[in-house]
Amino acid sequence: MKDEYELLDSGDGKKLERYGEIILDRPCAQAVWEPQHAKLWDNATARFDRSGGLNWEGRGKVSKPWNVEIAGVVMKLSATDFGHIGVFPETRALWKWIRKTLSEQATKKGRTLKFLNLFAYSGGATLAAAQSGAECCHLDASKGMVDWARENAALNKLQDAPIRWIVDDVIKFLRREVKRGNKYDGILLDPPSFGRGKKGELYKIEDQLMTTLDLVHEVLSDDPAFVLLTSHTPGFSPIVLSNLLRQYHATGCFECGEMLLTGKPEVNQLPNGNWARWIND
Ligand SMILES: C[S@@+](CC[C@H](N)C(=O)[O-])C[C@H]1O[C@@H](n2cnc3c(N)ncnc32)[C@H](O)[C@@H]1O
Repeated sequence: MKDEYELLDSGDGKKLERYGEIILDRPCAQAVWEPQHAKLWDNATARFDRSGGLNWEGRGKVSKPWNVEIAGVVMKLSATDFGHIGVFPETRALWKWIRKTLSEQATKKGRTLKFLNLFAYSGGATLAAAQSGAECCHLDASKGMVDWARENAALNKLQDAPIRWIVDDVIKFLRREVKRGNKYDGILLDPPSFGRGKKGELYKIEDQLMTTLDLVHEVLSDDPAFVLLTSHTPGFSPIVLSNLLRQYHATGCFECGEMLLTGKPEVNQLPNGNWARWIND
């Protein structure tokens, strides 16, 4: 499987990453150590800095969007004003797991599975799920992000795949799905520390997560495959996320870990968030 992403180095509060031909130097608070490969940093195509406001150096070299294949999914990347580029590559190992698990479970259950991606951003996980043949529902409060994810679908020749594209607030949408009786076999949710719904509804993970999880479990099918919960919020460790899922399941298998930015074996791995999953084995 093609993968054009690689962590090249980290340290001094920064990370150096390769996205295809483009090398980016961007802030990363948890990289508190010394860089391992100091010379490599001169190779950066562009640098983003938050010290004197939000600032790209060399933005001219990344002024146009470019496409990169990550974990078998082609993604359009673009240097945004906030230093984001349209992908969180620490989630790429989870995309592979989602694709494989949905495919195996569909075979085992002998039916097409339904996958729901909440806080779905630019759609890497949705498209990995669609590649497995699952019916997908992709939800984000930002129309711009849903449009971006649809562009990514077309880049992967998945424009005609069975994907529902929804711009909505997660909690409002889930409440409606409960009323409609719609159910899902695999659910991914990546709640932000702080976010806004479609009409500006405030989402704070510590206030809304339990309601979100209650609703997620109301829309879980009778014979589901998994629930996968990820978070970048400090304090939401793998065990915290796992304990949250354990409240809903007396049986099945629980796994948890850190999301990692990775490169060649000699490059230190860079943790960036955590995950936990319940698997209905
Ligand atoms: C950090 S991103 C998620 C990253 C994504 N899961 C991935 O791995 O690529 C958070 C996303 O949540 C969306 N969001 C924030 N609050 C929301 C809400 N109340 N309802 C729906 N989406 C929301 C934002 O628009 C944003 O795209």
